[in-house]
Amino acid sequence: MHVVVINASPRVRKYSNTDKIMISFCRGLIRRGASFEKHAISERKYWGVIRQAFLDNDEIVFAVPLYAEAVPGLMLEFLETLPKKDNRTRVSFILQGGFAEGCRLRCGEELLRDLTKYLGVSYGGCLVKGDNFSIRLREGECLDRIIKPYEKMGELFANGDGFRFNQAKKFTGPEIYSTPVRIATDVVFKTVAKRTMIKMAEAAFGCTTPLDYKPWAQNSYELDSAISQNEQFFTLKKKYNM
Ligand SMILES: Cc1cc2nc3c(=O)[nH]c(=O)nc-3n(C[C@H](O)[C@H](O)[C@H](O)COP(=O)(O)O)c2cc1C
Repeated sequence: MHVVVINASPRVRKYSNTDKIMISFCRGLIRRGASFEKHAISERKYWGVIRQAFLDNDEIVFAVPLYAEAVPGLMLEFLETLPKKDNRTRVSFILQGGFAEGCRLRCGEELLRDLTKYLGVSYGGCLVKGDNFSIRLREGECLDRIIKPYEKMGELFANGDGFRFNQAKKFTGPEIYSTPVRIATDVVFKTVAKRTMIKMAEAAFGCTTPLDYKPWAQNSYELDSAISQNEQFFTLKKKYNM
C-alpha cells in the first residue's frame, strides 16, 4: 500500500502540530510495510505537485487541524483546485484540534465526510482527536507521549480498511466532560494554564504584549476627557449666554 498524506494546515511545516502527528502516523505505516509520501498545502508553490499526487494515487489521507470549529479555509481553497475522481480513490482524514472533548470536532468530521462526495471519491473514515494545543511547545519525551499513539493508528491503517476499525473510535477519548471536570478545566485554563501560556509565549515566541492588549484604550481615555471638556465648554457657554 502506498499512502499520500497531506497536511491541510495553513501553518508552515516547521511550526505545524499536524506535521508532527503525521510523522508518527507514517512511522506506523512503515512498520507494517506500507510506503508513504508527505505533502503540505501551506506553501502554494507545491500545490501542482500535491494535485498530481492526488491524481496518481488511490489512498489519500488529509491530516486536518480544526480552526475556529471548522476546517482551514486554505484547505477548502486547495480542494477546489482538485479534479473529480471516481470511488476507486479512497480519502480518509486525521482530524485534530486543541480542545480535548471529542464533541468539539464532530461538526468538522461531518464536513469532511461531505467533502468526499464533492470529490467523487470514497470515504475512508476519520480519526478524531483533540488535546493537541501544546504539541508545538513540547520536546523529547513530552512530545512523544502526545504523538506516539498516532503511530499505532498508522499500523492499523496499513491493514487496508481506512480508519474503519474499533481502535479508531476509541482513539478520540472522552466525548464530553462531566460538569465537575468542565468546571475544573475552566478554572485551570483561566488561572494556571493562562499564566503558564504567557510565560511560554514569551520564552518560545518572544511575545511581550498580551493578546487582549487594546492599543486604542489610552487614546479612548483622552478622547473621553476631550468630549467631557467640550461638554463643559458648551454648558458654560449656555450658562453665560456667550
Ligand atoms: C486560529 C486558530 C483557531 C483554532 N480553533 C480551534 C477550534 O475551534 N477548536 C479546537 O479544538 N482547536 C482549535 N485550534 C487549535 C488547533 O486546532 C491545534 O492547535 C492544532 O494542533 C494546530 O495544528 P497546526 O499547528 O498543524 O495548524 C485553533 C488554533 C488556531 C491557531
